[in-house]
Amino acid sequence: MRSITRRHFLSGSMAVAATIAATPLGFANSITPLQLRTGTRTIEVNGRSATVLGIEGPGNRQGLFLDPGEDFNVRLVNGLNEATIIHWHGQIPPNEQDGVPDLPQPLLKPEEIRSFSFKPHAGTHWMHAHLPHQELGLLAAPLIVRTAEDLAADRQEIVMFLQDFSFKSPQELMEGLEDAHAAMGHGAPSTAANTHGGHGGHGGHGGHGSPSAETTAAVHDINDIDFDAYLVNSRTLDDPETHQVEKGGRVLLRVINAGSATVFFIDTGELDARLLAVDGQPIEPVEDRLFPVAMGQRLDLEVAIPAKGGAFPILALREGAPERTGLVLATPGAKIKRLPGSSAAKAPIMDSSLEGRLLARSPLEASGDTQVTEVLLGGEMSPYEWSINGKRWPNHTPIAAKSGQRSEFILRNMSGMGHPMHLHGHIFQVVEIAGQRINGARRDTVYVPANETITIAFDGGETASWMFHCHHIPHMATGMMTLVEVS
Ligand code: C2O
Ligand code: CU
Repeated sequence: MRSITRRHFLSGSMAVAATIAATPLGFANSITPLQLRTGTRTIEVNGRSATVLGIEGPGNRQGLFLDPGEDFNVRLVNGLNEATIIHWHGQIPPNEQDGVPDLPQPLLKPEEIRSFSFKPHAGTHWMHAHLPHQELGLLAAPLIVRTAEDLAADRQEIVMFLQDFSFKSPQELMEGLEDAHAAMGHGAPSTAANTHGGHGGHGGHGGHGSPSAETTAAVHDINDIDFDAYLVNSRTLDDPETHQVEKGGRVLLRVINAGSATVFFIDTGELDARLLAVDGQPIEPVEDRLFPVAMGQRLDLEVAIPAKGGAFPILALREGAPERTGLVLATPGAKIKRLPGSSAAKAPIMDSSLEGRLLARSPLEASGDTQVTEVLLGGEMSPYEWSINGKRWPNHTPIAAKSGQRSEFILRNMSGMGHPMHLHGHIFQVVEIAGQRINGARRDTVYVPANETITIAFDGGETASWMFHCHHIPHMATGMMTLVEVS
């Protein structure tokens, strides 16, 4: 049983502080860079061992955890035997350090070292390769930047890093997608429901030439890859991570959906949870026990452990499906029941109902002069191709924005699948959902459900080309990516 109490956690950060100079405020300010190294690691998936990719940071821990006042001062070493490049998702570094292939820096060759240095943004963020096959290979890790309030709060911090895993190689997975959908031979778009969970029952209809009622536009596609396992901190429910917690204590769950192609619902079970931030950006707290999180997004959830104690599984349910994963919070001596990796009931399907309840803690100031751009999200399962404004990356027409000036993007999803859209270099605000103006969350990744429209607003940042793409990796890999050119 692994347990990280708040005390361990503080002494851990003090150990780090001892090796670096303290500022007059008492906060650590690193002088020697912190090392991150990409490489392979072995994980255990349902009794089978698997070699996957990862990013090891200080203390042999995956990823990076920074205390208040610490700079992002990193020496990245490529320990893989192939080229890679790492993007700091949620951070706004100088464009040069954004970690996107050739925009503007080239990939790091094997054993190449590159330095990064910038002021980090606080919150729950993450880092990952910006190459689809490596993202499918789990080359990702947490990037947590704590605030002074985090350290002062009497609560334990636990990261829930969600991933989807397959024993197939990334290449096989991508080929499988393209073949499976091509083999169905449907002429109409988005009729792949037959092969997916939830719609398997009507295979007997035959007559693929004329779509049945179930395969018309009303059917939305979810989960276009069936993974072999769903992971929290690299483990399945077979052998979940168990954290010892205090009776009557509080826990901050930093949830990161690093899945390639899976939306999850976080189910806090018996515990009431307060959603405090999304994508690292504070919101007016929202109470619930079930919260959707799309690929690329993060949730900061605070839960209170009952005074009577016990064992409390925190689950991550695969959208629209019975599979699930999770970790367990347990007070000393509590009996921990084993939970199957699949439940009798299917999880719900993500829509914009949670997004519509979120209110930013620091919304954008009103701006008179706004440039409005319509962005069409398109694509279909057969052929398996996804686009932005009708173009498939590397073919693209950059979207123009002006530095220091307000832009609004009307994201119109013309397709039968939802898309988590991520903009680099900016923290936008969700300002309209299905025609309803809202003072919504600030964030960097917004989920646009099938056939819905969501508008985001932001002030143009550094004069540069910034990536804008879907964070569903097979969608991104088959074209759903473009650039926002800030001039
Ligand atoms: Cu998290 Cu361009 O990505
Ligand atoms: Cu997509």
